[in-house]
Amino acid sequence: MDKVHWIHDARVVTPSGEFLADIQVDEGKILDIRPLGNTGGVPQENPPARAPLVRSRNLDAGDGGSIDAKGMLVFPGGVDPHVHLNLPTPAGHSSDDFFSGSRAALAGGTTTLIDFVTPRKGQLLPDALRERQQEAAPALNSCYFHVSPIEWRDGLPDEIRACMERGVRSYKVYMAYKESIGLDDDSLLKVMRAVGGAGGLLTVHCEMGDEIERLRTTLHESGHSSVSAHPRSRPPHTESDAVKKAIKMAGQAGCPLYVVHVSAAASVQHIRDARKGGQDVMGEACPHHLLLDMSLYQDDFDAASAYVMSPPLRGEQDRQALWQGLADGTLQAVGTDHCPFMMAQKARGRDDFRKIANGVGGVEHRAALLYTYGVLSGRISLSRFVDLFAGQPARIFGLYPQKGSLEKGADADLLIWDPAYRGRISAATHRQHCDHNIYEGMEVSGRPLCVIHDGRLLVDNRPA
Ligand code: URP
Ligand code: ZN
Repeated sequence: MDKVHWIHDARVVTPSGEFLADIQVDEGKILDIRPLGNTGGVPQENPPARAPLVRSRNLDAGDGGSIDAKGMLVFPGGVDPHVHLNLPTPAGHSSDDFFSGSRAALAGGTTTLIDFVTPRKGQLLPDALRERQQEAAPALNSCYFHVSPIEWRDGLPDEIRACMERGVRSYKVYMAYKESIGLDDDSLLKVMRAVGGAGGLLTVHCEMGDEIERLRTTLHESGHSSVSAHPRSRPPHTESDAVKKAIKMAGQAGCPLYVVHVSAAASVQHIRDARKGGQDVMGEACPHHLLLDMSLYQDDFDAASAYVMSPPLRGEQDRQALWQGLADGTLQAVGTDHCPFMMAQKARGRDDFRKIANGVGGVEHRAALLYTYGVLSGRISLSRFVDLFAGQPARIFGLYPQKGSLEKGADADLLIWDPAYRGRISAATHRQHCDHNIYEGMEVSGRPLCVIHDGRLLVDNRPA
């Protein structure tokens, strides 16, 4: 592994602004940031002596390995707060495991992932956490977890406290999928009280599970079994009603709430209203909901089934509301909900949309999509991009300032971004372990020149 000691002429972008600097790295930490010239940073009279510039792709440890970042932007390494690697489902495991998924994340500039611990029925949460941590050992970047209570029992508050002692601050519950991991209202309220009481944060998959189950059955029984039945079985109100309900219950329980994968305009408004009323409610958007349209479900099975995820893709008004929510602070983070499946797993539902593997990939493309379609399209500022991509997810989930920041003493997780790159996303070139890509053919501007994790150069796209 190649240790990095200096990054020179970096245009450092933080949630509060930009400045030119030399960055010194040592022992996996940011040792110093030395602003250069009068560019918004603190002017410095004696710029640092330059370590020798090493252009080789193999920066040997101890040689003063330096990277010339002139013309590049430097961001904190990305923090993706929502991924499902190697997730067991009735259609088989999601196709990226911790090794391949973390490699794809790094290729796209994400150095920290937050995945989920989903226990088996009856399994104690700390035991499930230990198992999942072992499963994640092959990851090449930093991996953390949200722990999912899938049922209520009287000992659950103690289990949550035990997880808190092991550093887990965030928990995840599902209002959908009631036949397997979803909670009924009574259990949900109890879990909210337990998490709030322990000083934790509850992330919630907000969809009205019972209503969706009824719609799915009715659609199937009346002969609507193609992919286009999927969005019909999960219309926008089945999400926004659940968001409204979760906000009300979290308020009663005194529990901070983070709504995952917000997709509908009405949900954004509920979150905005709750925040205005002073409640601790946050929301997350996903690139697929920000960029792709529900008309994709009208295509033939092989094309359309690739886009089956929950909640489903929506329409133009919803996308506009999501972008607006990201820009005005109603929504705090962008996570990918990375949960890819192979086409053969999708094909399991060829005759019954309810059996199509549920989830899509995207961990590799979060930075490029958000930069191209957010920053360059004028929807969000560059500073807001850094906040949504790294700073806020790290803060919300208790990882800041070690992750998601470029402060002295933070972990040396950095993304050196080449804004001049132009390319297209394709399954032919992506690193995700998946035989298709939902963003196939989409143009992107910018890509990682280098990605550094823990002071080590793990991605190097510099010309040889
Ligand atoms: O469709 C999705 N989102 N699959 C992953 C599991 C979940 O619901 O988050
Ligand atoms: Zn998810």
